[in-house]
Amino acid sequence: MSSNFKIKEATVVNEQAQPILTHERSLSHKIAQGSEAGDILDQQMIMLGIQLVTQLNVLIKTSRIYDRTNAALDKPVDTMLTLIKTMAHDHPVTLRLQNDFLFLGESHLKVTAQQMAVVTSFIDALNVWKIGGVSFAYTAESKDLREFAALFVTLDPDNNSIDDFRREITGRGINGIELEEQREVQINEGAESGDNKGSGTAENKSTGDTASADPNAQRKGNAKNGYAKVAGSVGTLTQSAREGGTVNFKQAKRAIQNIVDLMMDDEATVLGLTTLRCHDQYTHNHSVNVSLLSIALANRAGYPKAELADLGLAALFHDLGKSTIPIEVLNKPGEFTDEDWVAMRNHPTEGVLALSKLRGITNLPGRMAAASFEHHMNLDFSGYPKLSVPWTASLTGRILTIADCYDAMTSSRVYRREPMSPSKVLNMMFSKSGKAFDAVLLKLFVNCVGIIPIGSMVMLDTSELAVVIKPALDKVNAERPFVKVITDSQGSPIDQGREIDLTEKDETGSFRESIIRLIDNTEYKFDTSRYFV
Ligand SMILES: [Fe+2]
Ligand SMILES: [Fe+2]
Repeated sequence: MSSNFKIKEATVVNEQAQPILTHERSLSHKIAQGSEAGDILDQQMIMLGIQLVTQLNVLIKTSRIYDRTNAALDKPVDTMLTLIKTMAHDHPVTLRLQNDFLFLGESHLKVTAQQMAVVTSFIDALNVWKIGGVSFAYTAESKDLREFAALFVTLDPDNNSIDDFRREITGRGINGIELEEQREVQINEGAESGDNKGSGTAENKSTGDTASADPNAQRKGNAKNGYAKVAGSVGTLTQSAREGGTVNFKQAKRAIQNIVDLMMDDEATVLGLTTLRCHDQYTHNHSVNVSLLSIALANRAGYPKAELADLGLAALFHDLGKSTIPIEVLNKPGEFTDEDWVAMRNHPTEGVLALSKLRGITNLPGRMAAASFEHHMNLDFSGYPKLSVPWTASLTGRILTIADCYDAMTSSRVYRREPMSPSKVLNMMFSKSGKAFDAVLLKLFVNCVGIIPIGSMVMLDTSELAVVIKPALDKVNAERPFVKVITDSQGSPIDQGREIDLTEKDETGSFRESIIRLIDNTEYKFDTSRYFV
């Protein structure tokens, strides 16, 4: 870490005060935006932002039990004040909620699995009030925070609007805290895809701003929302499974059913969301991605439609056995010890045990058990667990093996491997077709993600860089997917790049544009996911 940053003790009365990571206030002015030091600063701000959310959440919860002057409120209030003074020197620090994602100002607050419960609880609290943002100014004081939290828990959101809440804030002389309303997300992608016949004209582009009127943008918004909901519920469920609590699958099942419906409508958009894997830090994103990929593959394999949501749910919990592995081991930065590996290899079996112990799940569906037990076994039993009795892997297990491997290999977090580009992963998987993987299912899987998979970065013959957003409709032209242009021919990023169907031909009958090479987006550490969501 740069020596410009220092760890400063928080000025907190409580003896259990956590050291708060802070930075010199003047530094943000000195550091040029976009420089490496600027990135460190951003990261620090995000860490501080998560602490702010955590403390605000504690403050609200504590205020439900104790009066505003109670000493139990001291710690969260004092810590929050330190954070606010650190972060809000130029302008107020704002926590924003958009489509169930939290932002600090304009930066997405990416949180770890452990922070998930807190963030979900905070998001729920804001949603009850339809609050889209809370901002804290440098001038806010202890009494303001206490009074605000008291209002938050005493006013009844059923009978009061956010405007009533604001009036109370002013009426009680609360200074330095403001509420923002929830905003509809604007997705301003130049969203003409191959579905819209005769696309790509200037008129189409100029109407692209009205996101609500644009069915493509709306679909993307819905898909993103759906993903966030599944991610939210898997976070909550994993947490309660870890704590041995009662698990309510209803919400997760509803969220998955929603995803299935969206997928029937537009598979490519939903699968595009799985490219979030490269950068988002939710460890359970892996579970959501595996679930989405399994649903898509199962659908193509002729799985009964009515059972796709069940399969998705089973896939969502394929790694539940990992909840028996200590978090320190899962998050270990270094190499695993032999002991760690033993624990890791036991997770499929532990998963079945954990599922059977869950309260709230009355009879363990066979599919869920199979998903957990078989997902690392491999078709040729080269994986684990090793069995001494003959075994035939279920269709669910074989689907899961493919979806799990694909997402794990393309993601940077699972088993701490370096991520591989999607097309390298597909090549590697094909080398094991018929051995580790069911050959027929693997072929069907390629139909879902494309031979040049969704999320791949490519260079076009115009020298522009583009990202693959959808497999080609026609298998004959499999190497001509739909792409979205993301840079100009000089390599400078552009927004609102055009979406191209690479099978389109010009007047002379030759293809308008073609891919000349694949770019390894993992090498360039390029976040392609932002072009989907
Ligand atoms: Fe696993
Ligand atoms: Fe997995």
